[in-house]
Amino acid sequence: MKIEDVKKVVVVGAGAMGRQIAMNTALNGRKYGYIVTLCDSFPKAVESATAWAKEYLAGRVKKGRITQEEADTIASRWTVSLDTDKYVPEADVIIEAIIEKLDAKRDLFAHVSQIAKPDALLATNSSNIVSSKLADVTKNPERLCNMHYFNPALVMKLVEVVKGPHTSEETAQLAKAFAAQTGKTPIILRKEIPGFVANRINAAVTYEALDLLQKGVASVEDIDTACENGLNYPMGPFRLMDLTGIDVNYLVRKDRYAESHDERDAPNPLVIEKVKKGELGRKTGKGWYDYSKK
Ligand SMILES: NC(=O)c1ccc[n+]([C@@H]2O[C@H](COP(=O)([O-])OP(=O)(O)OC[C@H]3O[C@@H](n4cnc5c(N)ncnc54)[C@H](O)[C@@H]3O)[C@@H](O)[C@H]2O)c1
Repeated sequence: MKIEDVKKVVVVGAGAMGRQIAMNTALNGRKYGYIVTLCDSFPKAVESATAWAKEYLAGRVKKGRITQEEADTIASRWTVSLDTDKYVPEADVIIEAIIEKLDAKRDLFAHVSQIAKPDALLATNSSNIVSSKLADVTKNPERLCNMHYFNPALVMKLVEVVKGPHTSEETAQLAKAFAAQTGKTPIILRKEIPGFVANRINAAVTYEALDLLQKGVASVEDIDTACENGLNYPMGPFRLMDLTGIDVNYLVRKDRYAESHDERDAPNPLVIEKVKKGELGRKTGKGWYDYSKK
């Protein structure tokens, strides 16, 4: 498959990521005229993604980012459906963004790869499951890779294209070209590694920030201030953890430690304490900072 041949795109999983990846394709790739179908196996997700898309496009028009005519064109190329089997056989690019469960993803790729065109690009948006865990059930696994978008996918520019041992160079280049044509800034990882590039670098920064706090070197506020004012980070590591959830940091570390047995991957004791207290960040009103009074 060549990038010029890509016309029809199917995104499977209409949750937080899938709907934005699909809309990003339709909106930021509009000059290429992509026909985008967003599929989900749950009627509620289809309903909610349909309403969200309508509202999102209306919002873009209201803000003057696109014209009403452009919104109408995008809407005419956009479908949300429960019927994955109807749209997959015609698709040139298929991006999976379903729940983060290996068995569910393996079932999906086993089925989708059978009914898809033999050279359609198959990508998983998983943050943690590398595509080689799906390769043995996938027909023609040379066209399979990770395409890791960041949340929110309509805003964040980076896409990490990750090559497994089964992924052909042609596939990686196609995924890269597709990401670029839909307004993203792609990079290629030539090897699979847990956490990929950006999240690993972020994990290393978070590790150091927690270590400095634990050693009593500086306060939460001062460590964030150092990163924001000395390194120009948009947000310090503690503020970011409060936003994404301290429990997420805990769970990712726990999984990584179980796999690597490397002490540097284990959850920090201060994080364990926060999780035990239920102080998980903004969503609980308290984390490293107190949001209850705001
Ligand atoms: N949320 C993030 O910050 C983020 C960032 C990057 C990557 N990811 C990855 O994206 C994927 C999706 O994450 P999310 O946050 O959008 O999840 P989500 O729970 O918001 O959405 C998952 C969607 O998949 C649907 N679904 C479940 N099983 C399905 C199936 N068999 N067929 C079709 N649809 C099915 C669900 O109905 C739901 O709408 C995960 O693999 C995750 O690792 C998430």
